[in-house]
Amino acid sequence: MMSIKILRERIRKIGHYEAMAALLDWDQNTYMPAKAAGDRALLMEEATRLSVELFLADQTGELIEAAEAGTLTPTEKNIVKIVKREYIKNRKIPSESHVRLKGETARAFEAWRAAKEENDFSRFAPALEKVLEICREQADSLGYQNEPYDAMLDLYEPGIKAAEVETIIRPLQECLTGLLGDLDNGGKPDVFTPAAAFPLQLQEELNHQLLKLMHFDLEGGQLSTAPHPFTITMSPGDVRITTRYNKHDPFSSLLGTAHEAGHGLYEQGIPEDLMLWSEISTPSLGIHESQSRFWENGIVRSLDFWKCFYPRLLEIFPVFKQCKVEDLWRSLNRVEPSLIRVEADEVTYNLHIMLRFEIERELLNGKVPVSRLPELWNEKMKSYLGIEPSTDSEGVLQDVHWSMGLFGYFPTYMLGNLYSAQFSHKMVKDIPDLSAAVAEGRLEVPLQWLRTNIHNHGNIYQPGELVKMVTGESLNINYFTDYIKSKYHEIYRL
Ligand code: CO
Repeated sequence: MMSIKILRERIRKIGHYEAMAALLDWDQNTYMPAKAAGDRALLMEEATRLSVELFLADQTGELIEAAEAGTLTPTEKNIVKIVKREYIKNRKIPSESHVRLKGETARAFEAWRAAKEENDFSRFAPALEKVLEICREQADSLGYQNEPYDAMLDLYEPGIKAAEVETIIRPLQECLTGLLGDLDNGGKPDVFTPAAAFPLQLQEELNHQLLKLMHFDLEGGQLSTAPHPFTITMSPGDVRITTRYNKHDPFSSLLGTAHEAGHGLYEQGIPEDLMLWSEISTPSLGIHESQSRFWENGIVRSLDFWKCFYPRLLEIFPVFKQCKVEDLWRSLNRVEPSLIRVEADEVTYNLHIMLRFEIERELLNGKVPVSRLPELWNEKMKSYLGIEPSTDSEGVLQDVHWSMGLFGYFPTYMLGNLYSAQFSHKMVKDIPDLSAAVAEGRLEVPLQWLRTNIHNHGNIYQPGELVKMVTGESLNINYFTDYIKSKYHEIYRL
């Protein structure tokens, strides 16, 4: 048999193992009973081990080489290119190190959870030290030119360096801080809080209306509930998204659903041939996040969207009749510096990322000790957002990422916002009547653009290549700064 056929069969099999791990993961984060946690960790380890062993075996490398030497169709060429890139990168880390990290992060996660609950950073510190040590070793195995942090960043956003992130941050911070100052002199939107309850079942119905409008395929996917919303893909026909409900605020789940459905539409839009397994089928976390941010902030937080969705909202929650559509839109875009990243508005969100980037970079590069984290966190909160947490639970302990060894992950959230603005700018140029289409509820118009320009390419191109190909230039933060200034000046009537 031709080696490309054998290679593709191997990829399919790895995909099956990955899908098993993903399904276990989905279940763990949604409906799994608490007592299953111990066994579940073992099952997931087993599924991961099967996948990693098969993928990182010498034989996979031999098959890649043999396939490259044969005759390939354009699609096959792309598949080999993607698999080879991931194979080379993942082989650099010894599998023993993968396993050790898995064990240490499982312990660190539990320590973090207890520390957060008891507001006691010292309970987390020793476990974090151990995770950091392994991450530094992995950075050394991966290799880097300037600093260990670059190697970690490259795992999530291939091609970008810490120094480049730093050059983005300075002007971005200046823009956002300036904008916050402007907004102080503007008309702050009122928050419309009707003294009504919003039953979960009705909120679910509202979310499903949104999914229908977005063309999220509910026969190839599903919306369920999770304390920390996420999206996970088993196969092109099984993309699970999640949201969480607040019975006093139907927009909390709606915006969460918009975000995750943005991730989900991306996964559903990847051509079947290029959907190898979810983790290696898109260029980066930043590009993935550009899709979720586009739908969450670019669409569902836009006035055009509410022109079409407001009547649907009234059908389910007539209490909003008292609120004009423009006021509703303004209230969904109220800006307020706050302590918790996941609850932050569009303007302050990136400031939360900046302080995390600075801290984790120094931490990984060995420039600051773990013991200084709480103090450093509070200092930076004060300088970036002008507020300070009174407890570590609301401060340095709020995010799960570091306990899981995800150093270099946070900047991808910021990059997602920047990519999204740059893509949107091009989309508007390509589709002059985009605004009218959204106001009429024809969301297939922006979706089709995303399918053609982004989703269809799977993981063929690196993030930088994709951005350049789609928009004609490299990452340029002016698209985001222009967008955010003009949007919020309008909302605050400046
Ligand atoms: Co996201």
